[in-house]
Amino acid sequence: MKEKLIVANWKSHMTQEEAAVWIEKIEQQKTTLADKKIVICPPFTLLSFMQNQITEKGLPVFLGSQNISPFAPGAYTGEVNGQQIKTYAEYALIGHSERRRYFKEDDDILAKKVAMAREYGLEPIFCVENATIFIPQDVHIVAYEPLAAIGSGRPELPEDARKITESLQAKGIQTVLYGGSVTEENISDYTKEESIDGVLVGGASLDPSIFLSLITNA
Ligand code: PGA
Repeated sequence: MKEKLIVANWKSHMTQEEAAVWIEKIEQQKTTLADKKIVICPPFTLLSFMQNQITEKGLPVFLGSQNISPFAPGAYTGEVNGQQIKTYAEYALIGHSERRRYFKEDDDILAKKVAMAREYGLEPIFCVENATIFIPQDVHIVAYEPLAAIGSGRPELPEDARKITESLQAKGIQTVLYGGSVTEENISDYTKEESIDGVLVGGASLDPSIFLSLITNA
């Protein structure tokens, strides 16, 4: 069986003090992390801190960004580019529904972001809300996150998620994740599905104890 991929999306949460407490708790139970692949996507402001902590404490986790500039380094005020991200991270979340909705990111911008991630050696984790959404070429990891399930406490039924994730698999996507109100209680309903290689977790990743149980139950 493929190693399960668990991606934590912290969104616009966590200060450095809070992240330090989170890391300390995770370190106390680091054997829990052993047989799964864990990727943490903190805000940009914490990438450097998290990298130091992970190295110092020898935690078997990887880092990802929550976004990436569609441009190369240059005069783009407020943007963080792939070259800068690559200093800290291996992955980049691209096309999260909150980026599409609040920041009007469209197919064209998202394709540029994927190209930039590739250019700087970052692995894109591309988020889609349904199976018909455009997926740029060269994407190997896709997270299926139905809109109604995100942050709502109303996860999609596993049998419905199965249909979409199977169709993503059939399109040749190597790693397919489910996201949307995943908890420590329901995670195994998704990870036991043949077509689901892991999960993208928002809310349930912020509390280290809940996140550890979630990993155990995956
Ligand atoms: P949620 O968020 O787990 O809080 O529903 C998932 C996501 O938006 O990535």
